[in-house]
Amino acid sequence: MSVIGLDIGNENCVVAVAKQRGIDVVLNEESKRETPTVVSFGEKQRFLGTAAAASATMNPKSTVSQVKRLIGRRFDDPEVQNDLRLFPFRASSAPDGGILIHVDYLGEIKTFTPTQILGMILSNLKQIAVKNLETTAVSDCVIGIPAYFTDLQRRAYLDAAAIAKLKPLRLMHESAAIALSYGIYKTDLPENRSINVVFVDIGHCDTQVSVAAFKKGQLLMLSHAFDRSLGGRDFDDVLYNYFAKKFKQEYKIDVSTSSRASLRLRAACEKLKKVLSANAEAPLNIECLMEEKDVRGFIKRDEFEKLSSHLLERVKAPCQRALDDANLSIDEIYSVEVVGSGSRIPAILKILGGFFRREPSRTLNASECIARGCALQCAMLSPTFRVREFQVQDSFPFSVALCWKGPASEADEGSVATQPNSVLFRKGNPIPSTKMLTFFRNGTFTLDAVYADTKDLPPRTPSLISTFIIGPFQASKLEKIKVKIRLNLYGIVTIESASLIDEEEVEVPVTESSNPGETEKNKDGEPSAGSNVDGAGNGHAVSPGSTTPAVNSAQREVVKKKRYRRTDLPVNELINGGLPQAELQKALDKEFELAHQDKIMEETKDKKNAVESYVYEMRNKLLDIYHRYATDSEREELSRKLQQTEDWLYEEGDDESKGVYTAKLEELKKIGDLIEQRYKEERARAQEANELMQCIHHYRNLAQSKDPKFEHIEPREIEKVIFECTKTEDWLKETMQQQDAMPKSSSPILRSVEIGKKIDVLDRYCKQILSTPKPKPIPKSGDANDPKQNAQSSDPMDIDDAQDPQNM
Ligand SMILES: Nc1ncnc2c1ncn2[C@@H]1O[C@H](COP(=O)(O)OP(=O)(O)OP(=O)(O)O)[C@@H](O)[C@H]1O
Ligand SMILES: [Mg+2]
Repeated sequence: MSVIGLDIGNENCVVAVAKQRGIDVVLNEESKRETPTVVSFGEKQRFLGTAAAASATMNPKSTVSQVKRLIGRRFDDPEVQNDLRLFPFRASSAPDGGILIHVDYLGEIKTFTPTQILGMILSNLKQIAVKNLETTAVSDCVIGIPAYFTDLQRRAYLDAAAIAKLKPLRLMHESAAIALSYGIYKTDLPENRSINVVFVDIGHCDTQVSVAAFKKGQLLMLSHAFDRSLGGRDFDDVLYNYFAKKFKQEYKIDVSTSSRASLRLRAACEKLKKVLSANAEAPLNIECLMEEKDVRGFIKRDEFEKLSSHLLERVKAPCQRALDDANLSIDEIYSVEVVGSGSRIPAILKILGGFFRREPSRTLNASECIARGCALQCAMLSPTFRVREFQVQDSFPFSVALCWKGPASEADEGSVATQPNSVLFRKGNPIPSTKMLTFFRNGTFTLDAVYADTKDLPPRTPSLISTFIIGPFQASKLEKIKVKIRLNLYGIVTIESASLIDEEEVEVPVTESSNPGETEKNKDGEPSAGSNVDGAGNGHAVSPGSTTPAVNSAQREVVKKKRYRRTDLPVNELINGGLPQAELQKALDKEFELAHQDKIMEETKDKKNAVESYVYEMRNKLLDIYHRYATDSEREELSRKLQQTEDWLYEEGDDESKGVYTAKLEELKKIGDLIEQRYKEERARAQEANELMQCIHHYRNLAQSKDPKFEHIEPREIEKVIFECTKTEDWLKETMQQQDAMPKSSSPILRSVEIGKKIDVLDRYCKQILSTPKPKPIPKSGDANDPKQNAQSSDPMDIDDAQDPQNM
């Protein structure tokens, strides 16, 4: 079973695989290490990754990119609306308030959710891994996500992974993956104290700043801060607006009215930005941008920095928050590591240098460290790999509370929360973690998981995450219910179990009281949940307070003990805005259908290519090596058919089904194969004839060699070998002569297989005679046990190897 790590960037994705000797980033079909996060829908099929990015300018309205910005979000979210304004494709609100992307696919307008689009992207990345690893067993993965992802965004990633038939073992915060890539190879980590490292990741759409504390063999994420909407694309936007305004004045064109022109200008601005990272000034030239006008522009780096000063200034805020949340001052920072290609703008490094009062380092491979960290984590979580001992303790960036109905005085109690709406997992809580709550209820009840603070969440994110229905159950009195709540490896709050704890007092003879498991421990072997609140002790055999000495009828001393019986209660989860199971299944079926359509299209293209190349190849060969192997009429007929096919391919046959191309190829091959076979047969015949001659020489030489090895063989038998060799040679010469007298364009009278058979027959015949064992000498009396003599006498003649014609 292979394990992979996936970095899903807003612009580019990276796939890393864990191999026994380390982590490798795999190359996609175009031999690139990065694959664009793009899906394009065409008239006949969809395109993924690099192929999709290539068609972006040709087919902008049906090319979907930046899906990371949309996934798990609401259509009416102002940030989403802001992004949608920049995207060339159309989107609308889904019935559940989510987003539907409209594309023109197979000649019809179709809608897809961002989760479906991500499912397609993940499928493509999985295929890249499958091809590289030459295995179909790719399913276990760790996918990187921004720390700021909400519960719904995390769930949408899991749904997309299910669509791609991937099994994420974890959704890993991108910054934790970066920190793992940094820490695991660092050999000088101190043993007794921590060093604090700041990681700044500036990507295409966001900026994430985290602080991690490292010790030997251990990494602890102290804080995650971010600006969800500050990345490389915002700097492109600055340049885009600058030039769009300029061209409006100078060329009287408004690029915002044409999605193609907008896209081209945006792409040119991104290129220009990259040039400015290495040069003090850069030109911008676009031919025929709009209304058949070529445009020219120019900008200096200083000017660009001035125009983007508001963005540069914004880099500092998450840096400060990351320090504050980690409770650290700048002096306590050991190093500032910068990753993400968005950070290649020199002014950003200047700002970071100024803020942290030190030169930021670029120790890590900026574009690959997330995928590598995820693959490492996946290998750690997978039983098939052994990874150096390194503990990764991530933290959760939001506070999650639990709400339940009923006043606090109703005797709800728990080891953690005793008040409705109390914060269960505070911001910075380790991932994963489990908390146990105790409730007293006499029937089915519900619990709501809510964000305790929505300040850092996208606008309009509802505070309700999910509702858990515990039950159904009915009791005559208030029963003790223990609820185990888990913040899992995906950063999702779930209820792991809910159990009704029946407590009864039983009398146990003192002598039998030494079995702790039955009384104070629950089925899991855990100390009784909430034991510190209900006073039942903390897992020891008998709690002094709960036992009362008594005397039974037989006058033996007994103690009263509490016995606990645990009954699991069903838990139903209603996710606020989540994808219902039936919808997910529909999405899975849809993806299967789309992938099937792609496969048919790929096969059709392959078949069409096969027809095309057959036409060209056969025509050349007919003029050259196959010329003499075809009769005049065959040559004429095939040439005519080849020409007709070529014309057909460029006219009505340009867009045909796989079956039509297959039939066309078969029609051509009917004549072509005949000619090809004659040519191939002649070469094979020559080769086999050569081998037969070698075989003849070999056995004839052995037979005539007078080698002592053959002294014991009757001369009559040796003669037979020589005779057989001569007979075979005569046959070969004669039939070859007859064959050579025939025109090459006729069917052969001597086939290579017949010569092959002759080799076998001759080899078997001669080998049998020449391998005749030496007769055993008659043993002299007393010699029967002489091992030396025995060994000699039973020495078989070993001529097998030498006589194998293949080895001669
Ligand atoms: N030499 C460069 N100078 C300036 N910016 C660059 C340079 N090279 C790449 N970029 C920018 O980096 C951004 C892409 O960075 P990266 O690949 O880290 O993003 P991503 O991982 O795809 O997205 P995200 O992390 O936001 O999800 C793009 O905006 C790109 O223009
Ligand atoms: Mg990134």
